[in-house]
Amino acid sequence: MSVAVIIVAAGSGSRLGADLPKALVEIGGRTLLEHSLRTALEVSGLVQVVVVAPATHLEAVIELIDGIRTSSAVHVVAGGADRTASVAAGLAALDDGLGDELDDADAQGDLAEPQVVLVHDAARCFTPLDVYERVVDAVRDGWVAVVPGLPVVDTVKVVDERGVVRSTPPREQLRAVQTPQGFVRDELEAAHASGVSATDDAALLEALGHHVLVVEGDPLSFKVTTPADLDRAHRHTASLST
Ligand code: CTP
Ligand code: MG
Repeated sequence: MSVAVIIVAAGSGSRLGADLPKALVEIGGRTLLEHSLRTALEVSGLVQVVVVAPATHLEAVIELIDGIRTSSAVHVVAGGADRTASVAAGLAALDDGLGDELDDADAQGDLAEPQVVLVHDAARCFTPLDVYERVVDAVRDGWVAVVPGLPVVDTVKVVDERGVVRSTPPREQLRAVQTPQGFVRDELEAAHASGVSATDDAALLEALGHHVLVVEGDPLSFKVTTPADLDRAHRHTASLST
């Protein structure tokens, strides 16, 4: 089963508060998007990457991608008003003429048509390749939807609108989920056709009654969200170069 990766990078990064969209902020001389893209390009069975970029910075993103040597097709499309809309824009870009530009994939027949779609947050820029591979393997094993996740360290409360606790789910049943999330392409497209928004794609499939498998995530898949996360990311890159 061939693989496409959609990297969603169209958010503004309001919590980070930089003067650029978050995906274009640099760590160790590379943008968050470039860190994510370089790993995604290593995924086995890859036939296409779609980068969903801020509409205001399409040219900058195209230029950045031109600077990366790859034999895979990389398309850039403009994002939407929320993450779900950006994923939908990326999914729509999977339809156009896949394989036409892919000599290797053409030679392998239906490999050019991606059947597994991974959706990854550009902001999780240090996600290790083995997480991508774990997710793809589980989809190839027959799961329609697969997400990487880690046990939760805090006790989590469900509260009402006043902040009053309604319940305390047992911690051992909780997972903090990350990306890349992997799906059978047709099912992800069907889930997005509903037009409902959610903070991750798996929730859209859950709503349709699909079983979603959680595989092991990685602490390095933390999402750069706040200035403190950016500091952590800088420390991580600095630790690699010493
Ligand atoms: N994203 C996107 N399109 C949007 C909103 C988010 O492609 N309209 C992407 C972001 O670029 C990011 C991922 O979804 O890679 C996760 O979103 P988040 O961390 O919330 O990023 P932002 O929405 O940019 O940040 P904030 O919520 O702080 O504004
Ligand atoms: Mg956001």
